[in-house]
Amino acid sequence: MTVLADTHRAHASPSDYPMTGFSVSPTPQSSRLLQVDVDAAVVDEFLAATVAWPMQALEYKSFLRFRVARVLDDLCQGTLRPFLVDAMVDRSTGGLVVNPQGLDQVKDADDMVKFATAVAHLIGRSNHDAMSGQYYARFVVQNVDNSDSYLRAPHRVMELHNDGTFVEQDTDYVLMMKIDEQNMRGGNSLLLHLDDWEDMAQYFRHPLASRPMRWAAPPSKNVGKDIWHPVFDVDNEGRPIMSYIDQFVQPRDYQEGNWLADMSESLEFSANKVSLPVPTGSFLLINNHFWLHGRDRFEPHSELRRELMRQRGYFTAARTLRNPRQQ
Ligand SMILES: [Fe+2]
Repeated sequence: MTVLADTHRAHASPSDYPMTGFSVSPTPQSSRLLQVDVDAAVVDEFLAATVAWPMQALEYKSFLRFRVARVLDDLCQGTLRPFLVDAMVDRSTGGLVVNPQGLDQVKDADDMVKFATAVAHLIGRSNHDAMSGQYYARFVVQNVDNSDSYLRAPHRVMELHNDGTFVEQDTDYVLMMKIDEQNMRGGNSLLLHLDDWEDMAQYFRHPLASRPMRWAAPPSKNVGKDIWHPVFDVDNEGRPIMSYIDQFVQPRDYQEGNWLADMSESLEFSANKVSLPVPTGSFLLINNHFWLHGRDRFEPHSELRRELMRQRGYFTAARTLRNPRQQ
């Protein structure tokens, strides 16, 4: 099977794809979100075949991220990549929960990051993460938080948003992996597909939808300059896409501020938000243009600990955007 490029099939269903070494099913929470279970034997063989390349090797040599991707696809007899490429740009899904079976202990954290790297580099390339200085970032959420955004603040909801709103790089995908979880109650991932948002048409058609706004990040993000872009755009087929985050948009006046506040309320009160737990060792992989993501609040606990890993990047095999800035 060849990899489909820009002319991906619309609404491809998982049953259209041969699958060796993995299986796909809808998640109980949403038919748009697909669960991808990678066989334990494939995971084991992948780790054995890549043992010569520890995480440091993948950090130092970008091309090795693509090599570990090929190792994984070869173990699936070339069937994983075509499925992933199409699923990520398929407007009807574009969201995966990937579960490498047997990889679920925090002691295996480096192996988890390596596996997730392989999956991400079957569809694209992960961007430099200014917060960590690497192509990925690992971070811990604990009971007490001293940071300057809600990223690590445990006892409140992190509202729905897109990633990459205040950087110049295209952020086509977001990968969010659970590395560890201790004494956690609550804290599910929250997701909303744009086509399920009841008020999308109302906001998309508003005159402010296409007005460039200013986006500025707090100091911890290590992003020095502001970015200007509108909240809404359209994809390569003219459908609405968003680049929005409540904490970092800087409305210029009363009108913009109130429009954004109304929109934030509309998103948060959507009845179609999906709430799902992500087990340790699994990761969410979503199309960042038509899926918004956030996180539910946790219950306080003095020994609470959660460790996460994220990668954000751009697609290389198929496109969502009309004029990608990369390449
Ligand atoms: Fe985010």
